[in-house]
Amino acid sequence: MQKTILITGAGTGIGRDSAVALARRGHSVIATTHTEQQALDLRAYGHAQGVALETFKLDITLPEDRALAEPLVLDVLINNAGIGESGSLAEVDMERVRHNFEVNVFGTLALTQLVLKGMLARQQGTVLLVSSIAGRVPMPFLMPYSMTKFALSAAGAGLRAELDLLKQNVHVALIEPGAFHTGFNQQMSARKFDWMGADSYFAAHADALRAKEAREFKLVEARSTDAIVRKIVQASEARRPRLRYVAPWIQGFVVRLARILGV
Ligand SMILES: NC(=O)c1ccc[n+]([C@@H]2O[C@H](COP(=O)([O-])OP(=O)(O)OC[C@H]3O[C@@H](n4cnc5c(N)ncnc54)[C@H](OP(=O)(O)O)[C@@H]3O)[C@@H](O)[C@H]2O)c1
Repeated sequence: MQKTILITGAGTGIGRDSAVALARRGHSVIATTHTEQQALDLRAYGHAQGVALETFKLDITLPEDRALAEPLVLDVLINNAGIGESGSLAEVDMERVRHNFEVNVFGTLALTQLVLKGMLARQQGTVLLVSSIAGRVPMPFLMPYSMTKFALSAAGAGLRAELDLLKQNVHVALIEPGAFHTGFNQQMSARKFDWMGADSYFAAHADALRAKEAREFKLVEARSTDAIVRKIVQASEARRPRLRYVAPWIQGFVVRLARILGV
């Protein structure tokens, strides 16, 4: 069945690839972006890929932008937009942490509330929250981001149970990607080195930390987004989506093991 699907943060990465994949399957895709320029570029990109994407700027932190989504009749909302702050919780500026929560958690939930109004009135819809396996195991020196994804994964599980009580055919599911090479991880990792100066508790470890993170991401990142895009398509099309969709499966398995072992 053809669905009308709105996705946030679709100017780049997983969001853009999912928008194209969903449109190729015949869905009507409203691919929203962080900036006006991304919206223009994405429309052209879709065209070059042979699909028609409706695009507009929707900065999820701005109430006036979020309001644009309220009147739309949506079958699926994919909350994909996100940013990543890094650095030790011993010293990172709380404004950075707060801003990361503003985008990944508060902006996401505020948009979800608006879209839920229509879905609950029509008694039909699916909300996907793109969280992360960083929301399942703590990631030292990436904790500002990791904490937002812990919050989002908890929010998704809780909201799902709340809506199940209403029995209105409105579902919530979590998409929990492992590491994918979109540039997101490199930007997040680098961000802390912009402010970690000589007075940082970790100044003596900074070079080693930078090299370790670069090495680890290079080792674990999936080069293509295909595996997680497939999960997003699957969850979008499901009559009753599962609670969690994780890819690549091996990273999901390692995380589950880490949790069992209490890491
Ligand atoms: N790549 C991974 O390894 C990985 C792993 C786990 C989870 N994830 C999650 O997957 C999602 C997509 O990440 P990605 O890897 O595809 O990285 P990405 O290419 O950076 O995608 C994130 C998108 O969100 C946009 N965005 C940021 N702030 C926004 C705002 N206030 N309003 C609307 N859009 C905003 C970004 O725009 P700008 O470019 O203008 O900032 C960007 O287009 C994120 O939620 C991320 O946390 C990624």
